[in-house]
Amino acid sequence: MLERLVYRSKATHKLGSLHLFNLLLQCRKRNRELGITGHLLYTEEIFVQCIEGPPDAVEVLWRSLKHDDRHYNLELLSRGPESSRRFGDWSMAFSTYAHFNKYEIPGFFPVDEAGMSEAAQRCAALALA
Ligand SMILES: Cc1cc2nc3c(=O)[nH]c(=O)nc-3n(C[C@H](O)[C@H](O)[C@H](O)COP(=O)(O)O)c2cc1C
Repeated sequence: MLERLVYRSKATHKLGSLHLFNLLLQCRKRNRELGITGHLLYTEEIFVQCIEGPPDAVEVLWRSLKHDDRHYNLELLSRGPESSRRFGDWSMAFSTYAHFNKYEIPGFFPVDEAGMSEAAQRCAALALA
């Protein structure tokens, strides 16, 4: 049994590359332990994140997220059972502006100044579908 949860939140502070990089490392490490996969989008100080995995693990992570003071105004967009993973290949796919390309992070789908790249759009659409 799998569950998928999508929420939007506002970053408490503008996050630089190093902060985002550290956040992503933390996400990926713990998500592997929890059996969580998903996608995190960060633009204009707004996060949209999709997390999917066993319901117990999703609940554990959701509780952690709600207490994390790096973001606030968490708004649950959708939550429910699913038959398959949309982001099975990534412990946390990630999208932000294209300057992050230089880090050559696997599972990174850039958003450029004009808007989202096709891949980032696909990820966001998958997360919100
Ligand atoms: C926008 C955002 C997304 C996050 N995504 C994850 C995530 O996917 N997985 C994760 O383990 N922690 C994520 N975190 C960090 C958690 O909120 C939390 O700090 C971490 O899981 C440790 O939880 P604990 O303090 O309850 O042990 C995220 C934090 C923020 C601000």
